[in-house]
Amino acid sequence: MITTDSATEATHAAPAVFTRRLSTRRATAQERAARSADASFGTAFTEHMVTLRWTRQEGWHDGRVEPYATLALDPATVGLHYGQAVFEGLKAYRTADGRTAVFRPHAHAERFRRSAARLLMPELPEETFVRAVEELVTADEAWVPGEPHRSLYLRPLMFASETGLALRPADEFRFLLIAFVTEGFFGEPRPITVWVSEDHTRAAPGGTGAAKYAGNYAASYAAQAQAGEHGCDQVVWLDSQERRWVEELGGMNVFFVERDGPARKLVTPPLSGTILPGVTRDTLLRAAPGLGLDVEERRIAVDEWREGCRSGRISEVFACGTAAQVTSVGTVRTARDEFSVGDGRPGLVAGMLSDLLSGIERGLAPDPQKWMHYV
Ligand code: COI
Repeated sequence: MITTDSATEATHAAPAVFTRRLSTRRATAQERAARSADASFGTAFTEHMVTLRWTRQEGWHDGRVEPYATLALDPATVGLHYGQAVFEGLKAYRTADGRTAVFRPHAHAERFRRSAARLLMPELPEETFVRAVEELVTADEAWVPGEPHRSLYLRPLMFASETGLALRPADEFRFLLIAFVTEGFFGEPRPITVWVSEDHTRAAPGGTGAAKYAGNYAASYAAQAQAGEHGCDQVVWLDSQERRWVEELGGMNVFFVERDGPARKLVTPPLSGTILPGVTRDTLLRAAPGLGLDVEERRIAVDEWREGCRSGRISEVFACGTAAQVTSVGTVRTARDEFSVGDGRPGLVAGMLSDLLSGIERGLAPDPQKWMHYV
């Protein structure tokens, strides 16, 4: 059985080495264009994947870059039954000068380690995570899109690959890294409508809410389906104890823009252990002061949200995440009422932050914190 100690040992192991077996018949530019014509989230996959194995005896080993292919798994693979699986999501961009760069891979590597630790899974050393990312982006460099509204989404995944259904943490794991071409998570840019879920909650204190754990997403489908039935794009999660405090949206963090005279302040719920610590959330909190925006991490209740929109004190609300980037919320629906945020159109502050983020991602804006990792 894996103990926290053995997972920590694995963290300090030497970075794994990857052997490369690239596809002998590479897609032509025309084939790539045809395969990524529909770049809806998670559909236009590239030609390669990275794989790694972990066992208690050997630690991380058998790193490979190989053609994208289906996996053969025993029906008793632990991860399929008991859900010991964590993942990440990060993006590679084609910068304006034609180079490729990944946005904050070390921050994603660190969160991946923390998610793994929460699920008693081995921690992948940060250098190995970043090396795997570099390997895939290099192998599939031709797939990194040049169009400003597109990017290459990288999806690292780790799951328990041991065969056997004893109810205990597994002794064998697989790491996979795959990639797909993507564009706007909500299709054409537009303000989204959100549904405040009162029937379901996402996370409780002491639970897995701060981990990018696969089960958090499966468990959100029922609430997300309800949101869809009410004509909404995303669910708003409230805290599990009082069902009052806004935590996050279905698959992304949330920010409020408060107006105080001419000044604007960004407010977002604090990382209390039940909220996913978003890399985009962290990026915006760090970048906002440079745009003259104050930032504050504090709890916001739904009543305050409604009241703030009515009085005009809350001028904007937006979602943020790797997939969603910065997306304004235009309308809020609850079981009892509906209200607009501002005039229901994309907000100015969201626009400024979105421009700043995409400027950095495209290599067009200064990047003093060196968030772009050139490959
Ligand atoms: C991302 O923003 O990259 C995520 O992982 C959330 C996604 C599953 C919608």
